[in-house]
Amino acid sequence: MSEDQVVSAPTDGSDGAGSGGGARGRTVVVAGATSESGVAACAALVAAGAVVVAVGSSEERLAALAERVPGVSTAVCDLTDPAAVTSLAEATGAVDGLVHLVGGWVGGDGITGQTDEGWAAMERSFRTLRNTVRALYPALVASPAGRVVFVSSVSVDAPTASGADYTAAKAASESWLRSLADGFAADQAGLRAAAVVFAVKALVDERMRAASPERRFPGFTDVSTLADAVVALWDSPAAELNGTRRVLT
Ligand SMILES: NC(=O)c1ccc[n+]([C@@H]2O[C@H](COP(=O)([O-])OP(=O)(O)OC[C@H]3O[C@@H](n4cnc5c(N)ncnc54)[C@H](OP(=O)(O)O)[C@@H]3O)[C@@H](O)[C@H]2O)c1
Repeated sequence: MSEDQVVSAPTDGSDGAGSGGGARGRTVVVAGATSESGVAACAALVAAGAVVVAVGSSEERLAALAERVPGVSTAVCDLTDPAAVTSLAEATGAVDGLVHLVGGWVGGDGITGQTDEGWAAMERSFRTLRNTVRALYPALVASPAGRVVFVSSVSVDAPTASGADYTAAKAASESWLRSLADGFAADQAGLRAAAVVFAVKALVDERMRAASPERRFPGFTDVSTLADAVVALWDSPAAELNGTRRVLT
């Protein structure tokens, strides 16, 4: 780490975020980084001066990401595997942020159309969140400005029968993040870390717009909006962010 990347804790015990430092010099793990939202988040973090560790299960897709976003480090890891995630955390060392993007979507024909295969896929996304948060928790608590964010769905506010499995997994993840917020508050005398939920209806990116120029994508959130919101997590103090849920439009 170069000298200008070193971030030291302010002497007042707070996280110092919001006082101008922003994301510069923060080490941020982007878990599930190879989708368009991951590319956008990694690019925005690198542009803001963060040190980005992009994680995915495919070496090939991570290589493609590294070509599109010069400056990211990449790490292959199956985030459903607790031992692999522990090794990843040990190899990464000091961490200031976790941006969790492993999701996916499954729908079924009403309640009886919710399949075990679909639930297993949705539960996997929750499991990757639980694994990464547990493994990185000590580093995040030790950080001068730890930040954790995951992207939920507005369907949690109005679950449908067809999306029962998908929304149940998102609700579990939101609950896990609120527990994480409680952990940060309990384990830090002056709060420096924050667990945050972003919620969207759907994401849209330039490739989707180019593929369907006639579509308007109403209610969709551009991945650049998500990426900007991720970077801005280091512009506000932890006490203002911890335990909050924000709908991104
Ligand atoms: N897209 C939407 O419209 C929408 C709507 C509401 C909420 N969201 C949420 O927003 C977040 C980002 O969504 P997204 O659509 O951009 O991404 P995504 O397709 O849900 O997943 C992101 C990345 O996770 C990686 N991944 C999957 N399994 C993994 C594993 N076991 N270990 C490590 N990495 C793994 C995949 O990369 P590899 O295959 O290369 O590993 C994938 O590129 C998700 O939480 C999603 O549920 C999205």
